[in-house]
Amino acid sequence: MDGDISSIQAEFDSQLEAAGSERDLAELRVRFLGKKGTLTGLLRGLGQLAPEERQAAGKRVNELKARMEAALEARGAAIAARALQARLEAEWVDVTLDPGRRPVGCLHPLTQVQHEIEDVFTAMGFEVLDGPHVETDFFNFEALNIPKDHPARDMQDTFYLEDGNLLRTHTSPIQVRGMLKRRPPFKIIGPGKVFRCERIDASHEAAFHQLEGMMVDRDIKVAHLVYFMKVFLARVFGREEEVRLRPGYFPFVEPGFELDIRCLLCGGKGCPVCKQVGWLEICPCGLVHPNVLRAGKIDPAEYSGFAFGLGLDRLVMMRYGIEDIRHLHGADLRFIRQFR
Ligand code: PHE
Repeated sequence: MDGDISSIQAEFDSQLEAAGSERDLAELRVRFLGKKGTLTGLLRGLGQLAPEERQAAGKRVNELKARMEAALEARGAAIAARALQARLEAEWVDVTLDPGRRPVGCLHPLTQVQHEIEDVFTAMGFEVLDGPHVETDFFNFEALNIPKDHPARDMQDTFYLEDGNLLRTHTSPIQVRGMLKRRPPFKIIGPGKVFRCERIDASHEAAFHQLEGMMVDRDIKVAHLVYFMKVFLARVFGREEEVRLRPGYFPFVEPGFELDIRCLLCGGKGCPVCKQVGWLEICPCGLVHPNVLRAGKIDPAEYSGFAFGLGLDRLVMMRYGIEDIRHLHGADLRFIRQFR
Protein backbone atom coordinates (compact mmCIF):
# COMPACT_ATOMS: atom_id res chain seq x y z
CA MET A 1 0.00 0.00 0.00
CA ASP A 2 2.77 2.42 0.91
CA GLY A 3 4.51 1.57 -2.31
CA ASP A 4 1.31 2.30 -4.23
CA ILE A 5 0.95 5.68 -2.55
CA SER A 6 4.54 6.66 -3.33
CA SER A 7 4.34 5.63 -6.95
CA ILE A 8 1.02 7.36 -7.40
CA GLN A 9 2.48 10.48 -5.87
CA ALA A 10 5.53 10.30 -8.12
CA GLU A 11 3.38 9.79 -11.18
CA PHE A 12 1.14 12.67 -10.19
CA ASP A 13 4.11 14.96 -9.60
CA SER A 14 5.64 14.25 -12.98
CA GLN A 15 2.33 14.71 -14.78
CA LEU A 16 1.70 17.91 -12.88
CA GLU A 17 5.12 19.10 -13.95
CA ALA A 18 4.18 18.45 -17.58
CA ALA A 19 0.76 20.11 -17.36
CA GLY A 20 0.90 23.41 -19.25
CA SER A 21 -2.72 24.45 -19.50
CA GLU A 22 -5.94 24.60 -17.56
CA ARG A 23 -7.17 21.74 -19.70
CA ASP A 24 -4.16 19.56 -18.80
CA LEU A 25 -4.94 20.26 -15.15
CA ALA A 26 -8.59 19.32 -15.51
CA GLU A 27 -7.60 16.06 -17.15
CA LEU A 28 -5.08 15.40 -14.42
CA ARG A 29 -7.69 16.01 -11.76
CA VAL A 30 -10.05 13.52 -13.42
CA ARG A 31 -7.26 10.98 -13.85
CA PHE A 32 -6.27 11.01 -10.17
CA LEU A 33 -9.19 12.40 -8.21
CA GLY A 34 -12.17 11.62 -10.43
CA LYS A 35 -14.77 8.91 -9.77
CA LYS A 36 -12.66 6.36 -11.59
CA GLY A 37 -9.41 8.09 -10.67
CA THR A 38 -6.29 6.39 -9.39
CA LEU A 39 -6.56 7.78 -5.89
CA THR A 40 -10.25 7.07 -5.63
CA GLY A 41 -9.48 3.47 -6.53
CA LEU A 42 -6.91 3.38 -3.79
CA LEU A 43 -9.40 4.71 -1.26
CA ARG A 44 -11.86 2.01 -2.24
CA GLY A 45 -9.12 -0.58 -1.84
CA LEU A 46 -8.74 0.40 1.78
CA GLY A 47 -11.71 -1.82 2.66
CA GLN A 48 -9.66 -4.88 1.96
CA LEU A 49 -6.95 -3.94 4.43
CA ALA A 50 -6.76 -5.21 7.94
CA PRO A 51 -8.42 -2.75 10.38
CA GLU A 52 -5.12 -1.74 12.05
CA GLU A 53 -3.50 -0.99 8.72
CA ARG A 54 -6.56 0.67 7.33
CA GLN A 55 -6.46 3.71 9.59
CA ALA A 56 -2.83 4.64 8.88
CA ALA A 57 -3.20 3.96 5.18
CA GLY A 58 -6.44 5.96 5.07
CA LYS A 59 -4.72 8.87 6.69
CA ARG A 60 -1.90 8.77 4.15
CA VAL A 61 -4.25 8.53 1.20
CA ASN A 62 -6.26 11.46 2.49
CA GLU A 63 -3.11 13.48 3.03
CA LEU A 64 -2.04 12.71 -0.49
CA LYS A 65 -5.44 13.70 -1.77
CA ALA A 66 -5.26 17.03 0.06
CA ARG A 67 -1.76 17.65 -1.29
CA MET A 68 -2.88 16.84 -4.80
CA GLU A 69 -5.78 19.24 -4.53
CA ALA A 70 -3.52 21.99 -3.21
CA ALA A 71 -0.91 21.30 -5.89
CA LEU A 72 -3.55 21.37 -8.65
CA GLU A 73 -4.86 24.64 -7.29
CA ALA A 74 -1.41 26.22 -7.06
CA ARG A 75 -0.51 25.03 -10.51
CA GLY A 76 -3.82 26.35 -11.85
CA ALA A 77 -3.15 29.75 -10.34
CA ALA A 78 0.35 29.79 -11.85
CA ILE A 79 -0.96 28.88 -15.29
CA ALA A 80 -3.67 31.55 -15.09
CA ALA A 81 -1.11 34.14 -14.02
CA ARG A 82 1.17 33.17 -16.90
CA ALA A 83 -1.71 33.39 -19.39
CA LEU A 84 -2.67 36.81 -18.06
CA GLN A 85 0.90 37.99 -18.31
CA ALA A 86 1.14 36.74 -21.89
CA ARG A 87 -2.08 38.54 -22.79
CA LEU A 88 -0.98 41.75 -21.16
CA GLU A 89 2.24 41.64 -23.13
CA ALA A 90 0.49 40.82 -26.39
CA GLU A 91 -2.15 43.51 -25.97
CA TRP A 92 0.12 46.15 -24.54
CA VAL A 93 -0.39 49.61 -25.92
CA ASP A 94 2.05 52.40 -25.31
CA VAL A 95 -0.25 55.31 -24.71
CA THR A 96 2.68 57.68 -24.53
CA LEU A 97 3.82 56.84 -28.06
CA ASP A 98 3.93 59.84 -30.44
CA PRO A 99 1.28 59.05 -33.06
CA GLY A 100 3.12 61.09 -35.66
CA ARG A 101 1.58 63.68 -37.93
CA ARG A 102 -1.48 62.73 -39.91
CA PRO A 103 -1.72 64.41 -43.30
CA VAL A 104 -4.32 67.17 -42.94
CA GLY A 105 -6.01 68.72 -45.92
CA CYS A 106 -7.16 72.30 -46.21
CA LEU A 107 -9.81 74.27 -48.00
CA HIS A 108 -8.92 75.75 -51.35
CA PRO A 109 -8.09 79.47 -51.05
CA LEU A 110 -11.13 80.22 -53.22
CA THR A 111 -13.35 78.36 -50.78
CA GLN A 112 -11.70 80.03 -47.81
CA VAL A 113 -12.29 83.50 -49.24
CA GLN A 114 -15.82 82.55 -50.31
CA HIS A 115 -16.64 81.44 -46.76
CA GLU A 116 -15.13 84.61 -45.36
CA ILE A 117 -17.27 86.78 -47.64
CA GLU A 118 -20.35 84.71 -46.84
CA ASP A 119 -19.69 85.40 -43.15
CA VAL A 120 -19.39 89.14 -43.76
CA PHE A 121 -22.67 89.26 -45.67
CA THR A 122 -24.68 86.89 -43.51
CA ALA A 123 -23.66 89.05 -40.53
CA MET A 124 -25.40 91.91 -42.35
CA GLY A 125 -28.55 89.88 -42.88
CA PHE A 126 -27.91 88.41 -46.35
CA GLU A 127 -29.08 84.90 -47.25
CA VAL A 128 -26.70 82.63 -49.14
CA LEU A 129 -28.31 81.08 -52.23
CA ASP A 130 -27.20 78.43 -54.68
CA GLY A 131 -28.24 77.85 -58.27
CA PRO A 132 -27.70 75.32 -61.04
CA HIS A 133 -24.64 75.39 -63.31
CA VAL A 134 -26.79 74.35 -66.25
CA GLU A 135 -29.22 77.18 -66.83
CA THR A 136 -32.00 78.02 -69.22
CA ASP A 137 -31.79 80.91 -71.61
CA PHE A 138 -34.49 82.62 -69.54
CA PHE A 139 -32.58 82.74 -66.26
CA ASN A 140 -29.16 83.44 -67.74
CA PHE A 141 -30.23 86.07 -70.29
CA GLU A 142 -33.87 86.81 -70.94
CA ALA A 143 -34.90 87.64 -67.36
CA LEU A 144 -31.74 89.73 -67.00
CA ASN A 145 -32.79 92.08 -69.74
CA ILE A 146 -30.23 90.73 -72.16
CA PRO A 147 -31.84 91.10 -75.57
CA LYS A 148 -31.62 88.35 -78.15
CA ASP A 149 -28.95 90.15 -80.16
CA HIS A 150 -26.70 91.06 -77.21
CA PRO A 151 -23.04 90.15 -77.76
CA ALA A 152 -22.97 88.25 -74.45
CA ARG A 153 -25.09 85.63 -76.16
CA ASP A 154 -22.49 85.17 -78.84
CA MET A 155 -21.38 81.57 -79.29
CA GLN A 156 -17.88 82.82 -78.48
CA ASP A 157 -18.77 83.39 -74.86
CA THR A 158 -21.43 80.89 -73.97
CA PHE A 159 -21.20 77.14 -73.78
CA TYR A 160 -24.48 75.94 -75.21
CA LEU A 161 -25.73 72.43 -74.62
CA GLU A 162 -27.40 70.37 -77.29
CA ASP A 163 -30.79 70.61 -75.58
CA GLY A 164 -30.76 74.43 -75.86
CA ASN A 165 -29.73 75.00 -72.24
CA LEU A 166 -26.35 76.50 -71.39
CA LEU A 167 -23.66 76.65 -68.73
CA ARG A 168 -24.39 79.81 -66.77
CA THR A 169 -22.04 82.60 -67.83
CA HIS A 170 -22.48 84.51 -64.57
CA THR A 171 -24.08 84.11 -61.14
CA SER A 172 -26.79 86.66 -62.01
CA PRO A 173 -29.41 83.95 -62.73
CA ILE A 174 -29.31 83.41 -58.94
CA GLN A 175 -30.79 86.92 -58.61
CA VAL A 176 -33.76 85.93 -60.73
CA ARG A 177 -34.33 82.62 -58.96
CA GLY A 178 -33.99 84.49 -55.65
CA MET A 179 -36.54 87.17 -56.59
CA LEU A 180 -39.10 84.62 -57.77
CA LYS A 181 -38.92 82.75 -54.46
CA ARG A 182 -39.25 85.68 -52.03
CA ARG A 183 -40.97 89.01 -51.54
CA PRO A 184 -39.08 92.24 -50.75
CA PRO A 185 -37.41 93.35 -48.63
CA PHE A 186 -34.60 90.82 -48.98
CA LYS A 187 -30.83 90.62 -49.21
CA ILE A 188 -29.16 87.67 -50.91
CA ILE A 189 -25.76 86.55 -52.11
CA GLY A 190 -25.04 83.70 -54.50
CA PRO A 191 -21.52 82.36 -54.88
CA GLY A 192 -20.63 79.80 -57.54
CA LYS A 193 -18.84 78.61 -60.63
CA VAL A 194 -19.49 80.25 -63.95
CA PHE A 195 -18.41 79.24 -67.45
CA ARG A 196 -17.31 81.10 -70.52
CA CYS A 197 -15.69 79.99 -73.70
CA GLU A 198 -12.53 81.99 -73.05
CA ARG A 199 -9.07 81.77 -74.51
CA ILE A 200 -7.21 80.65 -71.39
CA ASP A 201 -4.30 82.78 -70.20
CA ALA A 202 -2.89 84.21 -66.97
CA SER A 203 -6.07 86.12 -66.24
CA HIS A 204 -8.74 84.08 -68.05
CA GLU A 205 -10.19 80.68 -67.32
CA ALA A 206 -13.14 78.91 -68.94
CA ALA A 207 -14.51 78.08 -65.49
CA PHE A 208 -14.19 80.68 -62.77
CA HIS A 209 -16.04 81.96 -59.74
CA GLN A 210 -18.36 84.83 -58.97
CA LEU A 211 -20.29 85.97 -55.98
CA GLU A 212 -23.56 87.64 -56.77
CA GLY A 213 -25.19 90.06 -54.38
CA MET A 214 -28.64 91.66 -54.42
CA MET A 215 -30.72 93.78 -52.12
CA VAL A 216 -34.31 94.77 -52.84
CA ASP A 217 -36.39 97.09 -50.69
CA ARG A 218 -38.19 100.42 -50.92
CA ASP A 219 -35.98 103.36 -51.93
CA ILE A 220 -32.73 101.50 -52.44
CA LYS A 221 -30.16 103.91 -53.86
CA VAL A 222 -26.56 103.88 -55.02
CA ALA A 223 -25.59 105.00 -51.49
CA HIS A 224 -26.80 101.64 -50.11
CA LEU A 225 -24.69 99.82 -52.65
CA VAL A 226 -21.61 101.87 -51.76
CA TYR A 227 -22.19 101.36 -48.05
CA PHE A 228 -22.42 97.56 -48.26
CA MET A 229 -19.45 97.36 -50.62
CA LYS A 230 -17.32 99.48 -48.30
CA VAL A 231 -18.19 97.40 -45.24
CA PHE A 232 -17.46 94.24 -47.18
CA LEU A 233 -14.11 95.54 -48.51
CA ALA A 234 -13.03 96.77 -45.07
CA ARG A 235 -13.66 93.30 -43.61
CA VAL A 236 -11.95 91.41 -46.41
CA PHE A 237 -8.89 93.66 -46.72
CA GLY A 238 -8.73 94.53 -43.04
CA ARG A 239 -8.79 98.28 -43.59
CA GLU A 240 -10.98 101.08 -44.85
CA GLU A 241 -10.79 101.12 -48.66
CA GLU A 242 -11.27 104.23 -50.73
CA VAL A 243 -13.67 103.39 -53.56
CA ARG A 244 -14.82 105.04 -56.75
CA LEU A 245 -17.60 104.29 -59.20
CA ARG A 246 -17.09 104.46 -62.94
CA PRO A 247 -19.94 104.05 -65.36
CA GLY A 248 -20.20 100.51 -66.67
CA TYR A 249 -22.76 98.92 -68.94
CA PHE A 250 -24.64 95.77 -68.02
CA PRO A 251 -28.12 95.24 -69.42
CA PHE A 252 -29.51 94.21 -66.03
CA VAL A 253 -28.54 97.33 -64.09
CA GLU A 254 -29.32 101.00 -64.57
CA PRO A 255 -27.24 102.90 -63.71
CA GLY A 256 -24.40 100.41 -63.96
CA PHE A 257 -20.92 100.84 -62.50
CA GLU A 258 -17.49 99.43 -62.13
CA LEU A 259 -16.44 99.77 -58.51
CA ASP A 260 -12.73 100.41 -58.06
CA ILE A 261 -10.51 100.52 -54.98
CA ARG A 262 -7.18 102.27 -54.51
CA CYS A 263 -4.42 99.99 -55.77
CA LEU A 264 -3.42 97.65 -52.95
CA LEU A 265 0.18 97.70 -54.06
CA CYS A 266 1.06 101.33 -54.75
CA GLY A 267 -1.78 102.97 -52.79
CA GLY A 268 -2.69 105.07 -55.82
CA LYS A 269 0.66 106.32 -57.09
CA GLY A 270 0.60 104.03 -60.12
CA CYS A 271 2.38 100.71 -60.64
CA PRO A 272 2.40 97.77 -63.06
CA VAL A 273 -0.36 95.97 -61.08
CA CYS A 274 -2.83 98.85 -61.54
CA LYS A 275 -1.36 99.64 -64.96
CA GLN A 276 -0.31 103.08 -63.63
CA VAL A 277 -3.89 104.26 -62.97
CA GLY A 278 -3.73 103.87 -59.18
CA TRP A 279 -7.10 102.05 -59.05
CA LEU A 280 -8.08 98.40 -59.18
CA GLU A 281 -11.35 97.21 -60.65
CA ILE A 282 -13.10 95.22 -57.93
CA CYS A 283 -16.62 94.54 -59.02
CA PRO A 284 -19.32 95.47 -61.49
CA CYS A 285 -22.55 96.60 -59.88
CA GLY A 286 -25.53 98.90 -60.21
CA LEU A 287 -29.19 99.46 -59.46
CA VAL A 288 -31.39 96.62 -60.64
CA HIS A 289 -33.03 97.40 -63.99
CA PRO A 290 -36.85 97.71 -63.79
CA ASN A 291 -37.21 94.97 -66.40
CA VAL A 292 -35.25 92.60 -64.19
CA LEU A 293 -37.44 93.39 -61.19
CA ARG A 294 -40.47 92.72 -63.37
CA ALA A 295 -39.03 89.38 -64.50
CA GLY A 296 -38.68 88.58 -60.79
CA LYS A 297 -42.38 89.51 -60.26
CA ILE A 298 -41.46 92.63 -58.29
CA ASP A 299 -43.13 95.95 -59.03
CA PRO A 300 -40.42 98.52 -59.91
CA ALA A 301 -42.80 101.35 -59.01
CA GLU A 302 -42.75 100.15 -55.42
CA TYR A 303 -39.33 98.61 -55.01
CA SER A 304 -35.77 99.16 -56.15
CA GLY A 305 -32.56 97.31 -55.54
CA PHE A 306 -28.86 97.04 -56.09
CA ALA A 307 -26.84 94.12 -57.42
CA PHE A 308 -23.19 93.32 -57.77
CA GLY A 309 -21.13 90.50 -59.27
CA LEU A 310 -17.80 89.99 -57.54
CA GLY A 311 -15.10 88.13 -59.42
CA LEU A 312 -13.88 85.74 -56.71
CA ASP A 313 -10.80 84.47 -58.51
CA ARG A 314 -9.47 87.97 -59.04
CA LEU A 315 -10.11 88.86 -55.43
CA VAL A 316 -8.20 85.79 -54.22
CA MET A 317 -5.37 86.64 -56.62
CA MET A 318 -5.16 90.21 -55.32
CA ARG A 319 -5.34 89.11 -51.71
CA TYR A 320 -2.49 86.60 -52.01
CA GLY A 321 -0.47 88.14 -54.82
CA ILE A 322 -1.15 85.22 -57.19
CA GLU A 323 -0.05 86.22 -60.67
CA ASP A 324 -1.72 83.52 -62.76
CA ILE A 325 -5.35 82.35 -62.49
CA ARG A 326 -4.34 78.92 -63.74
CA HIS A 327 -2.71 78.22 -60.37
CA LEU A 328 -6.16 78.31 -58.81
CA HIS A 329 -7.44 75.49 -60.97
CA GLY A 330 -4.23 73.58 -61.53
CA ALA A 331 -4.84 71.01 -58.76
CA ASP A 332 -1.15 71.26 -57.87
CA LEU A 333 -0.99 70.32 -54.19
CA ARG A 334 2.21 72.32 -53.72
CA PHE A 335 0.19 75.42 -54.52
CA ILE A 336 -2.82 74.50 -52.39
CA ARG A 337 -0.72 73.54 -49.36
CA GLN A 338 0.48 77.13 -49.04
CA PHE A 339 -3.01 78.02 -47.79
CA ARG A 340 -3.14 75.64 -44.84
N1 PHE B 1 -23.18 89.35 -64.09
C1 PHE B 1 -22.19 90.33 -64.46
C2 PHE B 1 -21.04 89.66 -65.14
O1 PHE B 1 -20.80 88.51 -64.97
C3 PHE B 1 -21.68 91.10 -63.31
C4 PHE B 1 -22.69 91.97 -62.63
C5 PHE B 1 -23.52 91.46 -61.64
C6 PHE B 1 -22.85 93.28 -62.99
C7 PHE B 1 -24.42 92.26 -61.01
C8 PHE B 1 -23.76 94.11 -62.38
C9 PHE B 1 -24.56 93.58 -61.39
O2 PHE B 1 -20.33 90.27 -65.90
